[in-house]
Amino acid sequence: MKRIGVLTSGGDAPGMNATIRAVVRAALKNEMSVVGFKRGYNGVLMTSKEQTDDFTMMTSRSVSDKIHRGGTFLMTARCLEFKERPYQEKAISNLKLLGVEGLVCIGGDGTFHGANALKQLGYPVIGVPGTIDNDLAYTESTIGFDTALNTAIECVNKIRETSDSHERASIITVMGRNCGDIAIHTALACGAEVVIIPEKPWTVEELADQVRWGVMKGKRSMIMVFAEGAIHSLKSDVAAICKKHDSLSDISVDHLTSSQIARIIETLSGHETRATVLGYTQRGGSPTAADRILASRLGAYASTLLRDDISGVAVGVRGGSLITEPIEEAMNGRGTANEELLALIDELS
Ligand code: ADP
Ligand code: F6P
Ligand code: MG
Repeated sequence: MKRIGVLTSGGDAPGMNATIRAVVRAALKNEMSVVGFKRGYNGVLMTSKEQTDDFTMMTSRSVSDKIHRGGTFLMTARCLEFKERPYQEKAISNLKLLGVEGLVCIGGDGTFHGANALKQLGYPVIGVPGTIDNDLAYTESTIGFDTALNTAIECVNKIRETSDSHERASIITVMGRNCGDIAIHTALACGAEVVIIPEKPWTVEELADQVRWGVMKGKRSMIMVFAEGAIHSLKSDVAAICKKHDSLSDISVDHLTSSQIARIIETLSGHETRATVLGYTQRGGSPTAADRILASRLGAYASTLLRDDISGVAVGVRGGSLITEPIEEAMNGRGTANEELLALIDELS
């Protein structure tokens, strides 16, 4: 190939800039030119008034001073039209018009679905896993996960100090959509007492018991790390619990929040409990060394594959080595949690 494209799509992840840099620099070394598309698949659809707002020719200097920066300078966005075939066909015709022979799509499972749609229409794509969620089964880690994890750990350490001082229990909600990886790794690295993930059913009664048990054991603070997607795996009849307690009568069961769960646990256990949602702090920040190295390896690999006319795959890492996986398989999630780490959190708490 002589000209390739690159875009970042879905939720941003620290290390996306380092990935773009690697794609561009490796492509230029391999005598390919690179078009950078802005705002995910929107850029390829060229919906902006000014075309310069949709794409830009990349030079070696376009990616200077980017390796250490969080976010993505090509910007990212969701593009819901792209799920429809006429828009996918339009994208391919735009790419061909620009002489772009293959596209590197950096993002998560949703982005890979989009890339697979292009593949099914005969267009060459490479997927690069850029998401803090670490929710792709085929690769050991996704770009951004390590940084998000380290950010979460730093926040949990701070909350542990104030919880210790006040002898409180704390629920700390981390991101990850339907995947418990950020929660599990944060919990293990922070010595959390409990981790609640979407992959496993749980009850508030069990949580309240854990808090009571922790108090009996003389713990000054208790950290319960919640994955944001775990609320739907709650098995308790919360409506019945709230009905029994006047102080909980205002809780709306349909839109349960972690603050409300904290109040329920406080009521059931008799121990002061607070909630913190870490939110978008986990998506920002300068990428860690691990993410910069992963981004550089995967980005350069993607360019080299396109140079050799290999496409229709996602790149990843297994056993420390670079691997490829057909994109239609790479977009699958794991669905199960790491039992070894879960058992270890329990054993060490
Ligand atoms: P992520 O890539 O981080 O998982 P999303 O799930 O939001 O993020 O997906 C990012 C974008 O990928 C969507 O806004 C859309 O443009 C594209 N996409 C997602 N699912 C599909 C699909 N089934 N078909 C085509 N494109 C899709
Ligand atoms: O996929 C990354 C992620 O940060 C998830 O962890 C989270 O559920 C989601 O994106 C938030 O998306 P948005 O940026 O649309 O609020
Ligand atoms: Mg996703």
